[in-house]
Amino acid sequence: MTGLSPQIKPLPLSLPLGFIAVGSVDLLVGVWLLALHPQALLSYRHPITLAVAHLLFLGFGVGVLMGVMQQLVAVILEGPLAKPHWGYATLLLWGLGTPLQVGGFLSQNSSQLALGGGLGFLGLLVFALHMLLTFRQAERWNPVATALAWVMFYLVLTPLLGMLQALSLRYGFYDPNRLAWHAVAGLAGVFLLSIWGVGHKLVEMFTLSHGGNTKWLGLELWALNLGLLGLAWGQRLGVALLVLGIGIAGYDLLNLLRHRNKRVLDVGVQHFLAGAGFLLLALGAFVFQRYWLAGLWFGLGFVGLIVTGMLYKITPFLIWTHRYAPLVGRTRVPLLKEMLPEWTPRLAGGLLGVGALLIPFAPPAAWLLVGGVGFFIYTLVEVMRR
Ligand code: HEM
Repeated sequence: MTGLSPQIKPLPLSLPLGFIAVGSVDLLVGVWLLALHPQALLSYRHPITLAVAHLLFLGFGVGVLMGVMQQLVAVILEGPLAKPHWGYATLLLWGLGTPLQVGGFLSQNSSQLALGGGLGFLGLLVFALHMLLTFRQAERWNPVATALAWVMFYLVLTPLLGMLQALSLRYGFYDPNRLAWHAVAGLAGVFLLSIWGVGHKLVEMFTLSHGGNTKWLGLELWALNLGLLGLAWGQRLGVALLVLGIGIAGYDLLNLLRHRNKRVLDVGVQHFLAGAGFLLLALGAFVFQRYWLAGLWFGLGFVGLIVTGMLYKITPFLIWTHRYAPLVGRTRVPLLKEMLPEWTPRLAGGLLGVGALLIPFAPPAAWLLVGGVGFFIYTLVEVMRR
């Protein structure tokens, strides 16, 4: 993000921070619900786990992704956003729609579920259209942008399938296969591609690495997309291609780390590596058809750790740039690294990691997740106060 060229106007701080704040509250409510109702983890399609899944993925994961992407796309494409103020419409629609949808799951009210889901879906459509307009005006293109364009495709497909599922619950054309497609498009299509597409760029920047070769990212995109297509048709080859795509992503990550100039890994990159470990665990569980275990480790470990870790890098940078960059040379300003409290991010990461690892075997471990998310939010609030 340091490469923001002077002619690109920075986004108003309220936009990325709005998405990050609403998403973090969704995450806290989600893990709290899980801690209060640990028995929900023992049954399939329980209203509580459906609510928690959407607070975690649609609320926290997608929210942070949208907030950060608006900032990052300008850097990746080296050009401005097409319609920056559209972000507020997305924030409003998604920010209101998600809790309404979650309330629909909890109360098992299919009309409320469809209304909330519809509002959230509309918000995501506005966002995807905005990104499309921004991509179209780009003068340069690269594989990270291709990864983000694919993420936009899955960000529309996933809620579309979710809406169909919600309407089918209401009007009676329910198809259990669609749940699998909806979940796989969301988990692998949105999160695997965005975390590896954006993460590739961020790890490269945060470790000052010169080992990045975007040809690996290109190959990985082919393998993951074809793998998803294979899964949709129920082919085992789909699983093999997903394994191959994740293998290429791992090799790419090792290359970045081997050629880094910053020897000591900071807390954001440590979270990224721990999250990558959870991805391997989830993949192992998936290959052995333990889908529930795979989903828990993927959501809480991989998505939870990597997204919180990236925010420990991104939030201080955003605030420092807006608050202190204009004052440099005129008065004493804090260093970027002084914006982040020292030990709370590590404590949050430790609690989240142990909680995610244990929860499939000991559901009360959800309280560790509550503690981890509490320290994560405390850290972000501290960053905003500095
Ligand atoms: C990118 C955003 C989304 C992601 C990643 C996502 C992910 C998921 C996941 C993982 C499940 C399975 C949860 C479980 O088994 O406990 C699920 C179920 C479901 N989702 Fe979503 N979802 C998203 C958006 C939406 C939207 C906007 C709607 C619209 C109403 C929706 C409606 C549903 C419904 C109705 C189910 C249950 C389906 C059934 O019981 O067959 N989802 N979602």
